[in-house]
Amino acid sequence: MADARPFHWEYHPETPRPETFRIEGGRPLRGTVNVSGAKNAALKLLAAAVLTGERCRLENVPEIEDVRVMAEVLRDLGVVVDHPETGVYEIAAGDVDWLFIPLEAAAKMRASFILLGPLLTRFGRVIISNPGGDRIGRRPVNLHVDAMRAMGAEIEYRNGYYYAQAPGRLRGGEIRFPQVTVMGTENAMLAATLADGHTVIRPAAQEPEVDDLAAFLCEMGADVERTYPDTIEVHGTRRLRGATHRVLPDRIETGTFLISAAVTGGTMRLENAACKHVGALVEVFEKVGIPVHCADTTIDIDASGLTPADLRACDIETAPYPGLATDLQSPTCVLLTQASGTSRVHEGVFEDRIEWLGELRKLGARIDIEDTHHAAIHGPSQLRGAEVSISDLRAGASLILAALAAQGPSLIHGAHHVERGYENIDRKFQQLGASIARSADTA
Ligand code: EPZ
Repeated sequence: MADARPFHWEYHPETPRPETFRIEGGRPLRGTVNVSGAKNAALKLLAAAVLTGERCRLENVPEIEDVRVMAEVLRDLGVVVDHPETGVYEIAAGDVDWLFIPLEAAAKMRASFILLGPLLTRFGRVIISNPGGDRIGRRPVNLHVDAMRAMGAEIEYRNGYYYAQAPGRLRGGEIRFPQVTVMGTENAMLAATLADGHTVIRPAAQEPEVDDLAAFLCEMGADVERTYPDTIEVHGTRRLRGATHRVLPDRIETGTFLISAAVTGGTMRLENAACKHVGALVEVFEKVGIPVHCADTTIDIDASGLTPADLRACDIETAPYPGLATDLQSPTCVLLTQASGTSRVHEGVFEDRIEWLGELRKLGARIDIEDTHHAAIHGPSQLRGAEVSISDLRAGASLILAALAAQGPSLIHGAHHVERGYENIDRKFQQLGASIARSADTA
């Protein structure tokens, strides 16, 4: 059994260069865009592969920074991670040298914490840093730790690290979360696959990425079932086998491109799109007055003939799935700046995920921020190009949407934040007719 890596060990992921997007807005976007695989599924599927020593193959994996970071974290554990072609990763966790997730990895990406469950249940111990991640609230992980303890793990917290061990094997049990937690659900589910006995997780998050992960676990031989909409049950087994899995489409990218067509008066077809998983957003489009046509994996939107007078203000509230995704709150706010009237925004999941609206004001949006969860957007506003900075991944993509809708040039600093979660976003927008270029940040 490997011991934890000595703490003087340095981890130097290449830090993405600060970059700037230069955008000339006011052009309707037209054409077809291919939606990539879901970031928030791919990261967990990579982690799930350490549950077996056999080779796993993941397809339709998005070419994004967070995936590269996760692959690096796995390689530094001693896991074999091959990237034989675009969109494909093969993982073999035959043996793991180190059961240590360093601060630098966790600080770069909160999702590294999803390794707690798989490493603990397969190897019986792990030292993992308390994660950092996006600047959208405190982002604690106490519910993950509570779930592991409920399965018999002994976990101590010292100097920014969780020291976790499971004498013998984790044991199945009742996991009762006080609130819905996506990665908390996923960590518990991953840990339960090799635990001794039956585990019931509720309320289990209902996000599609959770079910995509459950499907992969079943392909690996795990016994995982969503027995009620908010309940996942797992019967632990001794070993899992290698499997192949295709990552489901990214519903947040799907929504982001739909909104880009709406706010530029464009006409767009989305292929390999997450039609089944953007129902709450399509409802908002219908209330605002923008027709969207979904068919299996293709979505068509034509906003070319619409003027702001045609678009009605609409109140929105983000919530766990199947509610409107919190990750779509910021793109939807850009849409609401173009609607006639006042739209009330309630961010129901994270505290201070509203503050980004301050940057949106710089492009001419008329917004009252009431508190850390509420804002009012008054429209329609003619957005004007401006120089702004990105604070987190989703706000960054939304500032791009606003700049594409605005008249005149914009400079958006911090483009590397967007690289974390959107595959080739500038190239995809260029192919739709946008004037967007990326350059080293000279700010
Ligand atoms: C996942 O984060 C996603 N990240 C987030 O996407 C997404 O916004 C979020 O789910 C909600 O849908 C990944 O899947 C990698 P939570 P997660 O646990 O699992 C509180 C993006 O941009 N909480 O469902 O970390 C928490 O503070 C990212 O792709 C605790 O208090 O979110 C929040 O208020 C951003 N203690 C609420 O629960 C815990 O131990 C929901 O968080 C865990 C969470």
